[in-house]
Amino acid sequence: MRSHYCGDLLNVSAGESVKVAGWVHRRRDLGGLIFLQVRDRSGIIQVVVEPDQAELFAQAEDLRSEFVVSVEGFLRLRPDNMINQDMATGTIELLATGLIVLNRAAPPAILIDGHEDVSEELRLKYRYLDLRRPEMQERILFRNKVAKKLRDFLEAEHFADIETPILTKATPEGARDYIVPSRTNKGSFFALPQSPQLFKQLLMMSGFDRYYQIVRCFRDEDLRADRQPEFTQLDIETSFMDEEAIMGMMEKMIRQLFVDCLGVELGDFPRMPYAEAMQRYGSDKPDLRVTIELVDVADLLKEIEFKVFSGPANDQGGRVAAICVPGGAELSRKQIDQYGEYAGRYGAKGLAWIKVNEAGKGVAGVQSPIARFLDDDIINQIIARTHASAGDILLFGADSNKVVTDALGALRLKVAEDRGLVENSWKPLWVVDFPMFEADGGQMHALHHPFTAPQENDAEKLKARPTETLSRAYDMVLNGCEVGGGSVRIHDQNIQAAVFDILGIETQEAEDKFGFLLEALKYGCPPHGGIAFGLDRLVMLMVGADSIRDVIAFPKTTTASCPLTSAPSKISQSQLDELAIASTVKNKETE
Ligand code: AMO
Ligand code: AMP
Repeated sequence: MRSHYCGDLLNVSAGESVKVAGWVHRRRDLGGLIFLQVRDRSGIIQVVVEPDQAELFAQAEDLRSEFVVSVEGFLRLRPDNMINQDMATGTIELLATGLIVLNRAAPPAILIDGHEDVSEELRLKYRYLDLRRPEMQERILFRNKVAKKLRDFLEAEHFADIETPILTKATPEGARDYIVPSRTNKGSFFALPQSPQLFKQLLMMSGFDRYYQIVRCFRDEDLRADRQPEFTQLDIETSFMDEEAIMGMMEKMIRQLFVDCLGVELGDFPRMPYAEAMQRYGSDKPDLRVTIELVDVADLLKEIEFKVFSGPANDQGGRVAAICVPGGAELSRKQIDQYGEYAGRYGAKGLAWIKVNEAGKGVAGVQSPIARFLDDDIINQIIARTHASAGDILLFGADSNKVVTDALGALRLKVAEDRGLVENSWKPLWVVDFPMFEADGGQMHALHHPFTAPQENDAEKLKARPTETLSRAYDMVLNGCEVGGGSVRIHDQNIQAAVFDILGIETQEAEDKFGFLLEALKYGCPPHGGIAFGLDRLVMLMVGADSIRDVIAFPKTTTASCPLTSAPSKISQSQLDELAIASTVKNKETE
């Protein structure tokens, strides 16, 4: 049926007879000639059918979009005036000598060869058609290349690909579990893995030394553009390597990947402590393409009459900070109000501002609704500290540390995007020195997962000062997206027990949930650590897609459902009975 892929015909000499197979991308009848575009996964080739071949011509007239055909013909160069610069094969065409219709097609439910906006719901319902679009083909095949390059790197470094169970027990990664009922153990449930975390640690205890897996993970959490309920990790674990060695090797892998797949040299990955990231960028995944930073000004505002500022400025848990938007003095009141509303989504109760007309002139040089509360000296100091100059605007947050950090952190990105202040570059970094725990009321949470090693190696000291203890975790961040995260793990049973204790996981609960891990730690566990990359996120960034759904062949919608298969769906009463499950939803419906 085929001698060549369409995209490979550039390598064929004019006059050679070839056979291609694929879909009719377009058909145009022009002045007694029929032009077909035939598409396969490698690209598109123009086919010319001339009227002197009556039977062939009649056959071609009958063709419609998306018919599946095999075409035989002679390759020829297009005349100069027919060259199409927008097409990879725009310099050549095929003069048809034979045509076989392998299958007819109903008019496609969504246009393959169209630029009009199709709703994502419809694209996902007809995903098999959507995936025919050259752009989607490129993305999915690019993803394959990324996976292959990552595998090549890891195999060369002696990592072994080892599978871990999908039907398993809950892994604490902070999301809700997807649950699978057991028929053979009625009333008991498997959890789908949120990650292979525990198993990869056990593999280190088994002596495999270097493990990797490209593996599906399942998390029932609120979905966003960069989150799916099932997603793919490149999951990695090593023994006898410390964080420096692990980060160094992973950095090398990602740098190599960008060179191989994009021809991009990422250069060095700076290290930034978590505290600094939050302070300067208001985020644990700072986008360093945006140079606007949060600047603390609380110390200048402690004495002023304006309670909205002096309150948090004098409060231990408060923060008063500003961002300087270059050229932002031109913002209208309405635009500032809209940014105020945007900051409000993160809890900000207002957005005070100062427009700078002239730096160093105190109150006289600015325009601001809060100017009357400030004197010349304060204004000059704020302007000096934020490096604001004439024509800039300063936007302020004053509230709890969390609200100001989150609101200004999000606002700096929003304003930068709106005003074209996002540098067109790649900005990787490692965020390190995370706190071990986060206090939420009386309850402690692990900032990563509870198997992350603390920088403090003494169980008693750890228990005495849990919130001050930093962890041996590291996140790889690229252009404001967390592409990977990992840590050195606890390999000492006492430290692991202390961490469970701090997290309020009672001994019995720890035993029930992770008893197997605690026991395994007894039998000679090597120091170990690893990382997991979000493969979908990495590919999304590399191809410049807006959503990870665009780099997953069959993704779920934002309500975690699949319009193509209509999953999730009801199951029969007999299946429910067999699993000893009663659905309360069903009961409500029949009430
Ligand atoms: P973590 O939870 O940080 O770490 O996950 C690792 C990486 O997986 C990606 N990711 C996701 N991608 C798409 N949709 C999601 N819902 C989603 N959740 C996470 C992110 C993230 O950086 N076991 C640890 C790793 C380790 O410690 O080795 C873990 O799973 O890119
Ligand atoms: P008001 O005196 O309430 O009119 O506020 C004066 C200015 O301060 C307005 O621009 C408000 O948007 C701003 N503002 C009020 N509350 C806050 C806050 N918590 N953080 C930053 N700005 C605020």
